[in-house]
Amino acid sequence: MSQAEIGLIGLGVMGSNLALNIAEKGNKIAVFNRTVEATRKFYAEAGELKGQIVPCETIEEFVAAIRPPRPIIIMIKAGEAVDQQMEILKPYLSKGDIMIDAGNANFRDTMRRFEALKGSDLTFIGMGVSGGEEGARHGPSIMVGGTEESYRRVEKVLTSIAAKYENDPCVAWLGENGAGHFVKTIHNGIEYADMQMIAEIYGILRDGLKMSAAEIGEVFGAWNKGRLNSYLIEITEKVLKAADPLTGKPIVDMILDKAGQKGTGKWSVIEAQNMGIPATGIEAAVAARSISSMKDEREAAEKILGLPPVGEFTVADRQAFIEDLENALLAAKIGAYAQGFAVMSAASKEFGWNLPMPTIAKIWRAGCIIRSQFLDEITTAFTKAPDVANLIVTPAFAAMVKETDGALRRVVSAAVLGGLPVPALASALGYFDSYRRGRGTANVIQAQRDFFGAHGFDRVDGADSHHGPWGSGLNA
Ligand code: 6PG
Repeated sequence: MSQAEIGLIGLGVMGSNLALNIAEKGNKIAVFNRTVEATRKFYAEAGELKGQIVPCETIEEFVAAIRPPRPIIIMIKAGEAVDQQMEILKPYLSKGDIMIDAGNANFRDTMRRFEALKGSDLTFIGMGVSGGEEGARHGPSIMVGGTEESYRRVEKVLTSIAAKYENDPCVAWLGENGAGHFVKTIHNGIEYADMQMIAEIYGILRDGLKMSAAEIGEVFGAWNKGRLNSYLIEITEKVLKAADPLTGKPIVDMILDKAGQKGTGKWSVIEAQNMGIPATGIEAAVAARSISSMKDEREAAEKILGLPPVGEFTVADRQAFIEDLENALLAAKIGAYAQGFAVMSAASKEFGWNLPMPTIAKIWRAGCIIRSQFLDEITTAFTKAPDVANLIVTPAFAAMVKETDGALRRVVSAAVLGGLPVPALASALGYFDSYRRGRGTANVIQAQRDFFGAHGFDRVDGADSHHGPWGSGLNA
C-alpha cells in the first residue's frame, strides 16, 4: 500500500472536515486522534473516501504511514495542548519532518515553536485556516508561515484543498515563522470589525427605523447584490430571516445579546498597539464584544441612567437614509481593512517577513469568513501600489472614500443624535478625519508634555529650540 501524502492529528470538527477535504481531493491521508473511538467513528463514517484514509490507533503506526519528509497537521485546541502534542510526536519523527499547527494560534507561540526547532532536523509551519467547518470541508483560505522549503512539501496538497477564486487557489506561503498565523490573526481582527459594523447598522434599522428582523434581512439581501457583496452580508440576511423552531419568532430576537470571543481580535489590537499602528475599527469591535458580555451591568445601568432622552428617531427620507446606511457600511469597512493592512505592513517590517499584500488580499477573496468582492478590489489596488502607505490613499480607494464618507458622517450623526451606539462606525469616521488632516492638534499635547515633564518638542520652523517658555504671558 502506498504511503499517505500527509498526516493529521485531531479529529474534532475542523480536523475531520479538513481530513475529508484532503482525502476527497485525491490525497492519501493518515489520521490519528487522542481517543481511538473518535478515529474509528471518523473512519466508519468516511464512506467512499475510506480508500484515501489510513486510520491509525498509535503514534508509531501513524508516523510510519506517512511518506517522509512527513507533513503532520495538528488541529487541536490552540495553546499548551499543541506544545504537548509536539513533544509526544518528536521522538517518532525524522529528518525534514514538518509539524503544522493549523489552529488559531497566537503567532508569538508559533514564532517560539519555530525557533525552538531551528537547527534541529525538524521544522514547524504555522498555518492559518479560515472558513469555519464548511470551509475546512470544501475549501478554506490558507495562510502559511514557515520555511519556503517546508511549504514546497505541502504545496500540492494545500493547493488541492484550498478554495478557488476564479480558479486561483486561496493559499500562499506568506513568510517565515509566525507570518501565516499573524496574517490569520489580522484576518480575524478585520472579521471582528466587519461583524461589529454590520451589527451597528442592524441596530440602527431595528431601534431607529423600528424594522422587523425579516425586513432588515431584506435590506441586507439587497445590499448583497451590490458593492457590499460578501459572505458576512449574505449570512446576515439568512440569520435575520431564520425562524425560531421553539417560538416561531425570528431566531435573532431570541438570541441573548452577549458575544463570545476567543482571542484573535484582542491579539490583533495588542499587536497593533505594540507597533503604534491605529486599528480603531478592530479596537472598537473588541471593546463592543466585551461590553456586550456585561449584560447584567448594562441592564442595571439602564435602570439607573435610562436610555438617552432623545425622543423619536426621525429621518426625512427613509429610502435615502437606507442608501446612506449602505454607503456608510462600505466606507467604514474600507477604514477597517485599511487599518488591518497597515498593521500587517508594520509587522512585516518589524518581524522581517516581507509580507506580500496583494497575495494576502488575493487569498482572502474566497474560502475565508471575510471573503468578498471587495477583496478583489483591494488585490488590484495593492498590485498597482504594493508599497503604498495606506490603502485609502490608493486612487481607487481614495475615490471610494470620497464618495461614501458623507453617508458615513450622516449615519454616525443620526445615530449619535438618536442615542444609538455606533462605536465601530464612528471610529472609521474619526480615523478618516484624523488621517486626512495635515494639521492636527497634537501640538497642544506636545506643549503639555513639555510643560509638566520637559519632554521637548519639534518646531514647525525647524528652529533649534525644543522647550517652551512656560510661565511667560501672551495676551489673547
Ligand atoms: C475563521 C474564523 C474562525 C473562528 C474564530 C471565531 O476564519 O474561520 O475566524 O477562526 O470562527 O475563531 O473567533 P471568535 O470566537 O473569537 O469570534
